[in-house]
Amino acid sequence: MAGKNHLAHVFSPVEIGCLVLRNRIFVPAHTTNFADNNLPSERHLEYHRAKAAGGAALIIFETIRVHPTSIGRSGATAGYDDACIEPFRKITDAVHAEGAKIFGQIVHMGREVDGTYARSATWGPSEVPWSPVATIPHMMTRADIALVVRNHAEAARRLVAAGFDGVEVHLGHGHLLQQFLSPSSNRRSDQYGGALENRLRFPFEVLEAVRKEIGPTFPMGIRISAEEFLPDGLSLTDMGPITRKIIDRVKVDFVNVSHSAYHASYSLSTQMADMQFSAATFRPLPKTIAAHLEGAAARPPVFAVCKFVDLTEADAFLSEGDISMVGMARAHIADPEIVRKTMEGRLQDIKPCIHCNQGCVGMLQAGLPITCLVNPTAGREGAWPLTPRKTSTARRVLVVGGGPAGLEAASVAASQGHDVTLWEGSRKLGGELNLLEAMPQRRDFLKLLQHQQYQCRAQGVNIVLERSGTAKSVQDFSPDILILATGASQQSVKFAGGGESLTLGEALARGHQLGKRIAILDTLGNWAVASVVEHFCNLAHDVTLFVPGGQIAWNVPIYSSFAWRSRVRERGLKVIAMKDIHSVQNGKVALKDVWSGELEDGGFFDAVIAPGAGSSRTALYDQIEETAAISMDNVVVVGDAISPRSALEAVFEGHRAGRELERV
Ligand SMILES: Cc1cc2nc3c(=O)[nH]c(=O)nc-3n(C[C@H](O)[C@H](O)[C@H](O)COP(=O)(O)O)c2cc1C
Repeated sequence: MAGKNHLAHVFSPVEIGCLVLRNRIFVPAHTTNFADNNLPSERHLEYHRAKAAGGAALIIFETIRVHPTSIGRSGATAGYDDACIEPFRKITDAVHAEGAKIFGQIVHMGREVDGTYARSATWGPSEVPWSPVATIPHMMTRADIALVVRNHAEAARRLVAAGFDGVEVHLGHGHLLQQFLSPSSNRRSDQYGGALENRLRFPFEVLEAVRKEIGPTFPMGIRISAEEFLPDGLSLTDMGPITRKIIDRVKVDFVNVSHSAYHASYSLSTQMADMQFSAATFRPLPKTIAAHLEGAAARPPVFAVCKFVDLTEADAFLSEGDISMVGMARAHIADPEIVRKTMEGRLQDIKPCIHCNQGCVGMLQAGLPITCLVNPTAGREGAWPLTPRKTSTARRVLVVGGGPAGLEAASVAASQGHDVTLWEGSRKLGGELNLLEAMPQRRDFLKLLQHQQYQCRAQGVNIVLERSGTAKSVQDFSPDILILATGASQQSVKFAGGGESLTLGEALARGHQLGKRIAILDTLGNWAVASVVEHFCNLAHDVTLFVPGGQIAWNVPIYSSFAWRSRVRERGLKVIAMKDIHSVQNGKVALKDVWSGELEDGGFFDAVIAPGAGSSRTALYDQIEETAAISMDNVVVVGDAISPRSALEAVFEGHRAGRELERV
């Protein structure tokens, strides 16, 4: 089903305060780290222009920080200096020119922000850190609170001056105002702590100051967390009446309902629910909040968000009547044109968000600008237009290897008018990603492969299966450009004291036949290991994870790993830290203590798995170089064939190779 006519609810206009929006899909605020020394940048402009041109009705610009104690890093956007007005103005103009509206989200993030970058202390309501290893916050004084109230109003003034259409005050996601509101983070005994009236005092002061600054008609909304998912935190039962209290007292033009707290537990992972969560999984939350607002003198529109994967789903939800707009953040990062393509009935053209959290929040965690695993153009729209320009010098391109890197390179090269052939050695495209077929909880990755294959076919790539390529066959083919995407092969680990592990592929192939007791050695800390651990836990094996480095899942973004931890803990995963596997003899495992080097008995296991990074397949490259089959100037190597990493790097490098053939 596709097209505007089928999605009557999504494509009907909606009033938000004094504004009329063209449809009911908005892009929720999402931090990009695109700022240039804390100022809005050209990169922001192109990024948001693409989404406005792509059909979204409303863009909510990422967290605009109201005070230096909330800034944290150079890529974050500051709203505490008039210098932001001019660059913001360029962005709002660009968005308006494409027919969309744009709101700015103002926030102080409180205890989450490490003060090292701004050379300040971390601020919070009480000396309660968000994680056991985070900085202990400075307990804000009344003067600090008064300053932050003023800062919110001043930031709002700058947004009005910069041409924004509305302001969203962040009361959710465990940021400062929620930290004051929540008993889990507010332990104060003054007039800002204790009873609800006191915990609400600071949020009310902010909302009233902002409203006073912007006047009665300029749209102002709030973003809330309807549920903190913390044992001592705010639940939906609390947040319904709290939201009602707010709208009864301050003029609020919309209520954007999210959930979660920025807390080192399952709660954080709910905010960007990953592929393991079902679609639109938190939809009861906005509905319950909406029900609490019924009968209010001025009932504002309610917005819903989280893991809406397509407009059909959004339309079905909107048709129930109590929600006015649906937010799609990651779906827009994956494809900024999702609304327009849906409207035009081009559903297969939509790049599907697979909710892997690797390119978006994974990059944020690393302090880097966001990208997207399925859409490497995210954040590069200026350099890489969404629809690549046609080439004036079509080349004959041969891609060897049909995994995610090769497929991406082939379709992107072909989309510019090059003549592209892809050889894949096996009978099936997809490379290592095909292993995920065996793991139901990771199967959304296969949507990426399906999309890439569709694009290859649509762009006319000539795909040849069961042809691996030799120096001779490459020479005979005589390509102008050869892209080697030959991937990596898995290697079993040979233990120092004897015995060897199963590779991930071998283990998955045997599944239930592996026996009950399974040992998994983790030297990667990434999704490959986390996935296989969860897979065997789900199959009711008795799984022990050995982490010689002492950390668990350290390369899985925390926005996913906290939920993973709670799932595998519930399924009885045992973790043994700081011990390496020394030997495996007939199932008997000997361990080596990484501190002392002492050996000890590790027990008996039916299978020992060690998902290694693998080894790059370089044989074809080496042969070509040795025989001078073609000029090495015309050879580009991408993905695991350079060095085994993840699909994030593979797709990016494939894309870049396909885009930038002229540079070869
Ligand atoms: C990269 C990234 C950054 C985010 N930053 C913010 C932010 O600055 N402010 C905010 O309120 N929410 C932020 N969020 C949460 C989103 O607004 C949204 O609630 C969440 O991604 C769930 O919606 P989705 O499933 O449509 O992506 C961020 C999400 C992502 C993926």
